[in-house]
Parts: sequence; C-alpha cells; structure tokens
Amino acid sequence: STDGSDEAKRRAGESAAGLVEDGAVVGLGTGSTTAHAIRALGEAVAEGLDVRGVPTSYQSGALAREVGIPIVALADATPDIAIDGADQFAGGSLVKGGGAAHAREKVVDASADRLVVVADGTKRVDALDHPVPVEVLPDAVPAVEARVRDLGGDPTLRDAERKDGPVVTEYGNLVLDCAFGRIDAPADLAATLSAVPGVVEHGLFVELADEVHVGTGTGVSIERF
Ligand code: A5P
Repeated sequence: STDGSDEAKRRAGESAAGLVEDGAVVGLGTGSTTAHAIRALGEAVAEGLDVRGVPTSYQSGALAREVGIPIVALADATPDIAIDGADQFAGGSLVKGGGAAHAREKVVDASADRLVVVADGTKRVDALDHPVPVEVLPDAVPAVEARVRDLGGDPTLRDAERKDGPVVTEYGNLVLDCAFGRIDAPADLAATLSAVPGVVEHGLFVELADEVHVGTGTGVSIERF
C-alpha cells in the first residue's frame, strides 16, 4: 500500500523515533509526518529517555515543548541524528520546503551525523518533478525569477493562505516555487541554484539522507543509501 494516510505517516514517524538512543541530540524536522516522531519522542522522554532536540522551525520547537522534549540550540549541540519529512523523494534525493522551513531544516539536517527521512509512499517517485521551493531575499525576487526562467524553470511566488500577500519565512524572506519538470540531475540543479545571488537556500536535499522510512497502511519499509 502506498497511501498517504495519517496512519502511514504515524508508522514512519514512530519507526524513526525508535532509532534515537539515550543521551542523543536529535534534529527535529518540520511537517505532519515528523510531528508523529516528535510526539513519540515526547512519550519516550516521559518514560525516562534522555534526549535534547534541535528544532528546525517554530512549529517543531513549539511541538517539542508541548510534549516535553528539552530544546537545545544548534550553536550549542551537534545532532547525532535528525528526523525530517519530505515533499518528494527519489532514492536519497529529496524535495523539501512545502512548509517553507527548508533553510533551517537543511542546516540542521546537514549537521546531523545521520539523517532519517520519514514519509508515506505517495512521496516516492522514480525522478523528482516536484517544484523546488527557493527561499529568496525579498529585494532579489525579480532577479532570481529571471535566472530561474533562464534555467528552464517556472517560478511562482508563494502566497500566504490566511494573509494578504506572500509567505514570509522565519528569516524574513520570500519563497519562489520553481517548477523544472523532471529533474534528471538533482545535484547539478542544486549547485546551480545555490550559486544564484539572492538565493538563501533551496529545497533540493542531495546526498544528505542516510535512510527513508516509508510508512504504509500495515508497516514500514526502510530504504538505506
Ligand atoms: C517543511 O518545509 C517541509 O520540508 C516538510 O518537511 C515537508 O513538507 C514534509 O511535510 P509532511 O510530512 O507534512 O508532508
């Protein structure tokens, strides 16, 4: 089964949370699937597990506090493991940033000794084709849009759902969702986007994931890279 049910997400999240060892520093990813891992970790903490969490977003920090996971800043601790979601994955390459949290996610996830991705089967594809979220300095939006079009992409400024105007990130930047069609060389596109002036961070995560835990209606399958 490859359903995108909350049950499948829960299985993936709980599977990843089960990897966390006593004394660990854990990068806490963002999104609905990782939220299950954070809740499971909170339960483990209540039962005596000693962990400290490094949030990747306001959302994950707030949830960690709610469930009783002690918080530590990335400046003060290196994550042994990070658990994070994805909007799409092909092998170990990911598109992230559906919640506009990919900048801090990438910094935390890349700092961790081990990145464990949690997803349901609807996120798996043979080749990435999800629009790539690109966080951009506000003044640079027109220039980055032009550069993305030069690269064959189609940029769309992400609008807020419950506010007039665009999504503003936690760092005060804007997000361009850049459709490139099928991405055959994600490492090349990642490097190209990173080199565009005004781009703060983009949602292509290449060669960062160590494993993906894919939840299904009945269990979890694990892919290692
Ligand atoms: C946040 O910006 C994203 O990178 C999330 O990690 C990603 O969108 C996965 O979220 P879900 O688990 O809710 O699909």
